[in-house]
Amino acid sequence: MEKSYEQLKWEMEIIDEFIEKAYEGLIIIDKNGLIIKFKYEKFLDVKEEEVIGKHVTEVIENTRLHIVLKTGMPEIGDLQVIKGHNCVTSRIPIIRNGEAVGAVGTIMFKDILEVKHLSDHLEQMKQHVKKYKQEIKRLNLAKYSFEQILTADPHMLSLIDSAKMAAEGNASVYIEGESGTGKEYFAHAIHEASLRRYGPFVRINCAGIPRDLFESELFGYEPGAFTGASTHGRIGKFELANGGTIFLDELSAMPFEMQAKLLRVIEEREMERVGGNQRINIDVRFISASNEDLHELVTQGKFRSDLYYRLKVVHLKLPPLIERKRDIMLLANHYLQLFAKERNITLDGFSKEAKHCLEHYKWPGNVRELRNVVESAVSLSKMNQIIVSDLPDYIAHEKGEAIDATGLNLDALASDQFVDLYTLMDRFEREVITKALVAAGGNRTKAAHSLGIHRTALYKKMSKLGMEAE
Ligand SMILES: Nc1ncnc2c1ncn2[C@@H]1O[C@H](COP(=O)(O)OP(=O)(O)OP(=O)(O)O)[C@@H](O)[C@H]1O
Ligand SMILES: [Mg+2]
Repeated sequence: MEKSYEQLKWEMEIIDEFIEKAYEGLIIIDKNGLIIKFKYEKFLDVKEEEVIGKHVTEVIENTRLHIVLKTGMPEIGDLQVIKGHNCVTSRIPIIRNGEAVGAVGTIMFKDILEVKHLSDHLEQMKQHVKKYKQEIKRLNLAKYSFEQILTADPHMLSLIDSAKMAAEGNASVYIEGESGTGKEYFAHAIHEASLRRYGPFVRINCAGIPRDLFESELFGYEPGAFTGASTHGRIGKFELANGGTIFLDELSAMPFEMQAKLLRVIEEREMERVGGNQRINIDVRFISASNEDLHELVTQGKFRSDLYYRLKVVHLKLPPLIERKRDIMLLANHYLQLFAKERNITLDGFSKEAKHCLEHYKWPGNVRELRNVVESAVSLSKMNQIIVSDLPDYIAHEKGEAIDATGLNLDALASDQFVDLYTLMDRFEREVITKALVAAGGNRTKAAHSLGIHRTALYKKMSKLGMEAE
């Protein structure tokens, strides 16, 4: 359909206005090099009507537009001096039936400095992007490897072997163990030993994410997916971990409704962002950990059994420190050296009594607690060794149990039918002190030391218990 005159006129006006606003300088020539459009007024201070029909070389200094007309080759981003300005220009031939029937010249930047500013700005942005990429990579890298998992315990050593084997494949690994037993260390080490080690390692602390933000944290969201969502949308942890490993820590804290969604992602290896409809492929290995008995939670109906079995294809159950006695002194000595070095001091291990206390304490906080205890002992130590008084009271008191193990019979102490606790405690203390004195050959200073108390404290105790004469 032919366009009406009115319509054509209106379209031309729009194009004219666009040219006016979009370009600092624009010139169009016909096939003879004569100017048919000239929007250079602001730049050259010459009106369009003065130059229409003139040859371009008469109006624009250093022009090559007539040359482009001949060669038919565009010249983009060329430097051209116009009125003393180093301009960046572009020249494009208009081709009809393989022949140049005209050419368009535009000024892209009216001063090369503009390009420099732009390029400096771009360079700056590139540096920022590089920095952020490095930071994201640093934040999402495994920090520990198997070499850092210290142990002399045969069971732990066999668990490390299993973990190394699991690392080679892609199977989901579930790590169970009390707090501070090294679950996170294992998770890092498995990623580090796997083929995915150059990919990201992304930890998700299931206990640290508010319930209603769980889905968007994991899957990300599209712009404006919900009230309060960022207008740019956000990438989720799963996408961030693509090509690497996802570590679901404190798995037992995962909300029940999220468990079904997670199961679907594991099975389909695909996900959608919240508010989006595009399926995104997810290639991640799952490692999860919990210090709660997940099997028990499954039995109680608080955790989905299908998800549990999906995640524990390889199951590693880390024993508490108390069950790996050999590791106590191995780790204690390791941390002693580590913290002594940090403080620039030399320490020659633990006294016999301090060692005794460490070996007989129950370590409910496992390796983490041991590490903290040794760190505090190193900071308190005044001797060339860690001694009992450098240890926290609750550990220093572990001596009692040792002496008890040497033959103190609590049942015998409490043999009176109506003995109260105070009497029993006094009897117990008297027995313990007597034993310590005998073992120290009557030397009270030595006995006090072996009991982990000060000599004057021992005197006071003895006097209170009426043991002066002994
Ligand atoms: N076998 C080990 N060798 C050396 N250090 C260890 C070992 N196991 C644990 N640790 C130390 O104990 C700390 C706690 O370990 P980790 O964070 O792996 O425990 P966790 O099982 O994840 O505990 P939680 O359940 O409380 O998160 C670590 O920072 C590390 O210093
Ligand atoms: Mg942990």
